Amino acid sequence: MAIKRAFAVLALASSFFVSSVLAEEQEKCGQASYYPSEYACYDDKTLCPIQFSLPTKPCGGGCYSPEQYSCQDGTITDLAEATSPFSLTFSGVRKTFRNLNVKACGRYLAVGANARECHACTAAGGTNCGSYQNSTVLLPDGKMASDVPGHQFWYINPTDGILRYTEALAGNSSVWNATIPGKEFAAQNVKVYENGLFAWTREDATTHWWMACLVTLPGGAVGTGRSWRIYAPTYQNMERGDCELGRLVSKVVDRKAGAYKYP
Ligand SMILES: *[C@@H]1O[C@H](CO)[C@@H](O)[C@H](O)[C@H]1NC(C)=O
Ligand SMILES: *[C@@H]1O[C@H](CO)[C@@H](O)[C@H](O)[C@H]1NC(C)=O
Ligand SMILES: *[C@@H]1O[C@H](CO)[C@@H](O)[C@H](O)[C@H]1NC(C)=O
Repeated sequence: MAIKRAFAVLALASSFFVSSVLAEEQEKCGQASYYPSEYACYDDKTLCPIQFSLPTKPCGGGCYSPEQYSCQDGTITDLAEATSPFSLTFSGVRKTFRNLNVKACGRYLAVGANARECHACTAAGGTNCGSYQNSTVLLPDGKMASDVPGHQFWYINPTDGILRYTEALAGNSSVWNATIPGKEFAAQNVKVYENGLFAWTREDATTHWWMACLVTLPGGAVGTGRSWRIYAPTYQNMERGDCELGRLVSKVVDRKAGAYKYP
């Protein structure tokens, strides 16, 4: 059953793909014809597939995803795990979902034109609010790059698989367990590569893709104020038909690109 569902989701992904290809002109890569939405051409001779709008690259006769591997002298090796603060982008198959910044607001991480990026700062206690750039920045240890007393943590909500973050919490596991029952710190469920994939690990697999699912924000008139929240592909979430599949990719940034607090 689980396997059937996985196939259903992959079929959905390729149907988006086929519809985007129909209206497209073919191009030449050496002797070969290809659709530029489907493949990238290197040196007018090597074709590598594009996955979720992210081109793979040639290495030693094969192709590799630079969000997961590096290529040295024709040998493909795993990227290092992230140790630096990072921002995230979401890349789905459709053009409108390419390279979208992931934004924190209201304890959700979301993408899309109407996703808001929220920040707050209190100058009391001598905080230099002007020293923050207020982007959405995460740390590889499971925290948000905020400086509010206590810490803010990003996590995958155990009940619905949504990627979220907490309000300021004293960072010890009894506080965490009372807030997010049943799960240890989120960093244990996600593998982050430096300048690479943000990959969710569940009991049976590591998934290299996520789902961006449409929500209408409370108070938004119908058809406005819509953003796409990010969901882990749990078996339950994979039943949904209103989501864009895509990859989350980390990019190393300065910690001070973050905010004092993410409200
Ligand atoms: C970031 O937000 C704080 C208030 O939360 C503000 O004082 C500061 O100037 C902002 N920084 C930038 C670069 O806009
Ligand atoms: C964890 O935080 C709680 C609530 O703030 C506090 O009562 C407890 O002493 C802390 N535990 C440790 C080991 O610091
Ligand atoms: C928090 O929950 C985890 C299991 O999810 C458990 O291993 C850990 O001991 C708990 N910590 C506390 C302080 O209750």
